[in-house]
Amino acid sequence: MSRAIPEITLNDGMTLPVVGLGTYNLKGSDGAASITSAIDSGYRLIDSAYNYENEGTIGEAVRRSTIPREELLITSKLPGRYQEYSKAVTTIQESLYRANLDYYDIYLIHWPNPKQDLYVEAWQALIDAKRWGLIRSIGVCNFLPEHLERLEKETGVKPSLNQIELHPFFNQEEQRKWHEENQIATESWSPMVRASEVFHNETLKRIAEAKHKSISQVILRWHYQLGAISIPKSASPERQRENISIFDFSLDDEEMRTIDGLTRPDGRLDDQNPAVYEEF
Ligand SMILES: NC(=O)c1ccc[n+]([C@@H]2O[C@H](COP(=O)([O-])OP(=O)(O)OC[C@H]3O[C@@H](n4cnc5c(N)ncnc54)[C@H](OP(=O)(O)O)[C@@H]3O)[C@@H](O)[C@H]2O)c1
Repeated sequence: MSRAIPEITLNDGMTLPVVGLGTYNLKGSDGAASITSAIDSGYRLIDSAYNYENEGTIGEAVRRSTIPREELLITSKLPGRYQEYSKAVTTIQESLYRANLDYYDIYLIHWPNPKQDLYVEAWQALIDAKRWGLIRSIGVCNFLPEHLERLEKETGVKPSLNQIELHPFFNQEEQRKWHEENQIATESWSPMVRASEVFHNETLKRIAEAKHKSISQVILRWHYQLGAISIPKSASPERQRENISIFDFSLDDEEMRTIDGLTRPDGRLDDQNPAVYEEF
């Protein structure tokens, strides 16, 4: 089943399916059951973060699953308050202990927090943790080109991916282009705008009806055709299946342009501009 999800290759050779599972708020035994059902349906890439307080739940789902650990791609993220080098190393170890895993497939810096100005030393900790075998692929979230350039300039190592807010109301055209030119994969967070007004949007409704698909499927197909990896979160086995059933239709150029046209300068969900916003 997982073979039905196409894959892309990152700049370090790691391959990832183009749709993974978001897990914000999936916790405890209900969360573990939801994540297990997603794995049973064919999800292999699972997103998580130290700050979601669900690394233990993710580890439990990995152990409950009948899919071998090496076929799963587990992600976690370093919080802003632990970006100092020694704290970052300890946090990566703590993330592993919480999940009771030997390694993460992907580990990301959660926010650049530019005013704090510690993201380069946090990045050095991820580079070293990869060398020690604790992480297979290292990347970032919410980094602007100026932050990404600095990482490579000061450490010689480029992130494999950048997980950014990306959805029809905030299409990140320039940032995506920059990623493409610099061989950094784009991963979309809140790909369905957290199921907000997007499901009442008349333009999306019209395209979904024409394709005999749901609005979520049209949106997730749009991410795929943009070349982005999306990580829709759903607790429901039915909606999880719906969200990966997007490889039997396509959007034509005009439909892609129409969805692109829904973007707005103020389209971010919570006005979290990484140039100034900081999260700890
Ligand atoms: N790096 C970062 O800074 C950052 C920031 C935010 C999020 N993230 C990651 O990105 C993931 C996804 O983002 P998100 O959770 O904010 O938002 P999202 O995936 O855009 O939307 C999730 C919402 O959509 C609903 N939903 C899912 N599938 C649906 C469907 N087919 N039809 C109708 N409703 C559906 C879910 O409800 P049900 O669960 O009831 O289905 C949930 O309320 C997060 O879970 C997290 O892993 C990362």
